[in-house]
Amino acid sequence: MKFLESNCSFEVLDEALINSTNVFECSNFDLNDFFQNDSIAFASELMGKSYCFTLDSDSKNIVCSFTISNDSIKTSILPNARKKKLLKNIPSEKRFKSYPAVLIGRLGVSKDFTSLGIGTELLNFIKSWFIERDNKTGCRFIIVDSYNTNEALNFYQKNGFNFLFSSEEQEKMATDFGCEEQIKTRLMYFDLISLYS
Ligand SMILES: CC(C)(COP(=O)(O)OP(=O)(O)OC[C@H]1O[C@@H](n2cnc3c(N)ncnc32)[C@H](O)[C@@H]1OP(=O)(O)O)[C@@H](O)C(=O)NCCC(=O)NCCS
Repeated sequence: MKFLESNCSFEVLDEALINSTNVFECSNFDLNDFFQNDSIAFASELMGKSYCFTLDSDSKNIVCSFTISNDSIKTSILPNARKKKLLKNIPSEKRFKSYPAVLIGRLGVSKDFTSLGIGTELLNFIKSWFIERDNKTGCRFIIVDSYNTNEALNFYQKNGFNFLFSSEEQEKMATDFGCEEQIKTRLMYFDLISLYS
């Protein structure tokens, strides 16, 4: 049985909710700080909207949170091989320079609920938002700028996301990270058309 669907309520992470719940704590300090202190200002600038699932048996308990924004994939920044892979399911007459996408800017599962499949359930929930009747604006891809950690990269790969750049070197060059030793995040994408077949 799905945990979020059966035991939790979906809510906008607004000021009233933040003030009436326990501080959200996933294993990443920057994410916790963003959800607690910056997400409201971010939303009021119309830069990204944050949502969460709270536990029905204890509504002060936030199980997981995420932030999404409109975005796009611009193929001009991609190496040829990557461009080919990305466009392989798009008929040539429908190819453009930029493809509509939604960015998962931030996503975390509370420390008390990790490794139970909840992150996976949350990604499936987000994917389902952008397909079928709810794909109101046309959205082909979901993008994430994932933390460059085994935990996060495994998580997204396990959930069908691919790297936008096949190597860190390519990503550094294309995104202007210069010679920084290790890039802190990796861009990944999920093609929503795969859910329509
Ligand atoms: C990454 C995160 C969202 C995973 O949430 P979760 O509910 O534990 O994920 P799931 O239980 O659905 O796990 C799915 C897969 O993710 C990977 N994964 C999850 N936690 C992992 C860990 N600590 N180390 C390595 N891989 C991990 C595994 O491949 C796992 O599959 P498996 O259980 O078959 O091994 C959660 O640990 C978290 O909030 N981390 C801190 C914030 C973060 O890194 N966010 C994502 C980047 S923006």
